[in-house]
Amino acid sequence: MSKVRTKVVPFPVPIAIVSSIIKRKANFATYGCFGLLAPRPITYVYIGSIEPHYTNTGIKENGYFGVNIPSTDQMTETDYVGLVSGHKTDKSKVFRTFSGEADEVPLIRDCPVNMLCKLTKTVDLPGRDIFIGEVLETYVNEECLTNGKLDFKKINPLLFTSATAKYWELGNIIGSAYKEGKILLKP
Ligand SMILES: Cc1cc2nc3c(=O)[nH]c(=O)nc-3n(C[C@H](O)[C@H](O)[C@H](O)COP(=O)(O)O)c2cc1C
Repeated sequence: MSKVRTKVVPFPVPIAIVSSIIKRKANFATYGCFGLLAPRPITYVYIGSIEPHYTNTGIKENGYFGVNIPSTDQMTETDYVGLVSGHKTDKSKVFRTFSGEADEVPLIRDCPVNMLCKLTKTVDLPGRDIFIGEVLETYVNEECLTNGKLDFKKINPLLFTSATAKYWELGNIIGSAYKEGKILLKP
């Protein structure tokens, strides 16, 4: 097998819509650079956000942000809030929202999964802020559960890769984690 040296390859990832409050108004923006850290005992999320974004102002001012995971049904709105900035365009009415218990930032009603996050650390990288937040509350649409468990087929997350600037959808389950490798365990 021969290898070709290439640029960094951004793999398809679930996209996030980050909600924030700036000057007492909601703002929403799209993030492919997002992920979960350390699921237990505390879950953190990170987002990588280019510095001029209006979202950065809101997170720094308010100290809270929402991470909303859209399904493929919300592709148009998700793309839109990633095309225009809150600096120039009022995006506060693009989504129907609800308040979590802490009620610090609005969360998006139509997104199947929502996380309310408290900013714990900001890592200052050249040209961008990496915001790390503790997940205080998580919500999921009831119809996306099967026997009380998250059903990713029902959530149908919108996936994105910046390598080709395309949206994708999820494929099929092909195995069980912590089980498939057991076949190679020595007796
Ligand atoms: C599919 C997609 C993915 C994006 N991912 C990121 C990202 O990971 N980090 C980032 O800083 N901007 C990202 N953007 C760009 C911001 O969403 C965009 O600049 C937005 O207008 C910022 O809004 P704001 O100024 O209201 O915060 C992405 C945009 C799209 C369409």
